Amino acid sequence: MTDIPFETVVEKLADGRVMLIGGAGFIGHNLAIKLRASGVETMVLDNMMVNSMVDNAFHDRGDLAKRKLNLHFLMTRFEMMRDAGVQLINCDARSYADLAQTFDTFKPTKVVHLSAIASAVEARKNPGLCFDLQLSTLRNVLELCRLSHQQVATLMLLSSSTVYGDFESDSVDEVTRPRPRGIYANTKYMAERLLRTYHHGDGIGTCIIRPSALYGERCVSRRVSQAFIENALAGRPLLLEGGGDGLLDFTYIEDLTDGMIRALALHEAGTSDTFNLTFGHARTIVDLAAIVKDIVPNAILEERPRAAEKPIRGTLRMDKARERLGFNPSWPLERGYRQYCEWYVGEWEKIVGANA
Ligand SMILES: NC(=O)c1ccc[n+]([C@@H]2O[C@H](COP(=O)([O-])OP(=O)(O)OC[C@H]3O[C@@H](n4cnc5c(N)ncnc54)[C@H](O)[C@@H]3O)[C@@H](O)[C@H]2O)c1
Repeated sequence: MTDIPFETVVEKLADGRVMLIGGAGFIGHNLAIKLRASGVETMVLDNMMVNSMVDNAFHDRGDLAKRKLNLHFLMTRFEMMRDAGVQLINCDARSYADLAQTFDTFKPTKVVHLSAIASAVEARKNPGLCFDLQLSTLRNVLELCRLSHQQVATLMLLSSSTVYGDFESDSVDEVTRPRPRGIYANTKYMAERLLRTYHHGDGIGTCIIRPSALYGERCVSRRVSQAFIENALAGRPLLLEGGGDGLLDFTYIEDLTDGMIRALALHEAGTSDTFNLTFGHARTIVDLAAIVKDIVPNAILEERPRAAEKPIRGTLRMDKARERLGFNPSWPLERGYRQYCEWYVGEWEKIVGANA
């Protein structure tokens, strides 16, 4: 299987009911809108706790421009989901009773687990909460899938490329032995192991996705891809640690959501699988900065010493996803990141405009 049109794939989800746990976040809302565009019944369940309105409106998230922009992105997410016909429920997946009630009413056939502190840096500051949002929620989801696994054909887990730890060669594939470091990567790996345990013990159909360094519209988590374009527009320097030679497999959200929908649609009930889903070609931070500089010519680039703890990363190989899912990522950095930056400039001018 190498080339299956998206429209053909998505037909397999026609009778599906997809529940996204932690689905109001960056990945979840983009996935929900795309599922609805294909006519799939979709419910987003979220406790609005991470990268949230409250976070951005109340706590000090830097300057006013940034606050206004992030709140605008978050509000737009809700408007887009509402217009697309996504069902939304404000629920904390740590509460078994609340989650059970939602399973009972929505009756999902596919469940995607996204809830987490979705940043290794933030997770390190609050390891207990990281454990809780990632694994206490997963415990409830696994138990509910176990009890209703005739109904839930697939439980998909959003893991992370960080499970590979420091890369020992330029690239890794799904059989490379994980060597996670730190609380974020270790809770991801624990979550993967728990999925496999429930698969072997209880026959739950499971699918593990390992993405990397995502960027795209309405992201508010301030990863390097957002920080660079925002800093350029605000007149702040773009910091290049160690000269900016660090590698990351940057992935545009459109490629990830395409791959996730393929994996959801093509997953065979009762089986267990793991897929890398990235662009499949690591690039340097300098490459990212060059695109920003091209769009915002007065952007200031500033070199900084390399952080001692910086992980060593590289390319995630896509052979398995290509072969099994017909996944052909189509957004190289020059196209995807440029499109994202141009969109960001437009939003900045509209929302921050003359007040910047
Ligand atoms: N964005 C990336 O680059 C990236 C890369 C690899 C893996 N991932 C993983 O993908 C998943 C989604 O990432 P994202 O970028 O969309 O993050 P995000 O922070 O935008 O979304 C996570 C969502 O989970 C929700 N949540 C947290 N705890 C919850 C709970 N107890 N009950 C209900 N909802 C809860 C949050 O409110 C938030 O809306 C995460 O598991 C993350 O670790 C993300």
